Amino acid sequence: MSLSRKVSHSSRREFLGSAVPAAGLILFSGAETVVVQAKSEHEEENVSTNEDLMREHGILKRVLIAYDEIIRRIRAKEDFPPQTVREGATIIRKFIEDYHEKLEEDHLFPRFRKAGKQVELVTVLYAQHQAGRRVTDRIMAKANTLKTEDDRSQLAQDLEAFNRMYAPHEAREDTVLFPALHKIVSLHEYDALGEHFEKIERQTFGGDGFDIYVDKVAALEKRLGIYDLSKFTPA
Ligand SMILES: [Fe+2]
Ligand SMILES: [Fe+2]
Repeated sequence: MSLSRKVSHSSRREFLGSAVPAAGLILFSGAETVVVQAKSEHEEENVSTNEDLMREHGILKRVLIAYDEIIRRIRAKEDFPPQTVREGATIIRKFIEDYHEKLEEDHLFPRFRKAGKQVELVTVLYAQHQAGRRVTDRIMAKANTLKTEDDRSQLAQDLEAFNRMYAPHEAREDTVLFPALHKIVSLHEYDALGEHFEKIERQTFGGDGFDIYVDKVAALEKRLGIYDLSKFTPA
């Protein structure tokens, strides 16, 4: 039976509004159902401004977890694939520092400063972005010279410093800064901001940067043997 036969006239509008599959727009023509236009994934997903920023934090969190695993192995004097340090730091540099944080610095922080809201928080968050970039510089430099026990110990210290700052940093943005955005911009501006972010994302990465970097962070986890989520479940 074709899809059109399953849907009554009265329920078609509701059906179209709630359950159009990712493949594209469906036209009902008599008994036939025709997929006529494949929309871009972002048009389908309609990701809001805060959801966009928060799921980018999810990628940051997954790198923090990878860093934790590298720290654990250094402290336990276990081996780890040395390229995982550079892979993790490159995700941070390209996706978090040069993209996600730039969005915050160019489009969120100035709006809060102008509105006179969360100004102290924004000052700390901005300073932490700069500090994070300095730590990432050091992590990238050390990724090339992991020869001695001392090299590994210094790397562990930088990874710990990075994780110690970014876990509270992203949690504070998720629970204080991003919710407060609704109070300083109109609904229209909030929606426009999300669309602008999507445009920047496509220009920056030549496609859906989030999808590209979810794959990269999953590959990093697999290399470190921490991809299987069930391994984190306590007995
Ligand atoms: Fe931030
Ligand atoms: Fe952030």
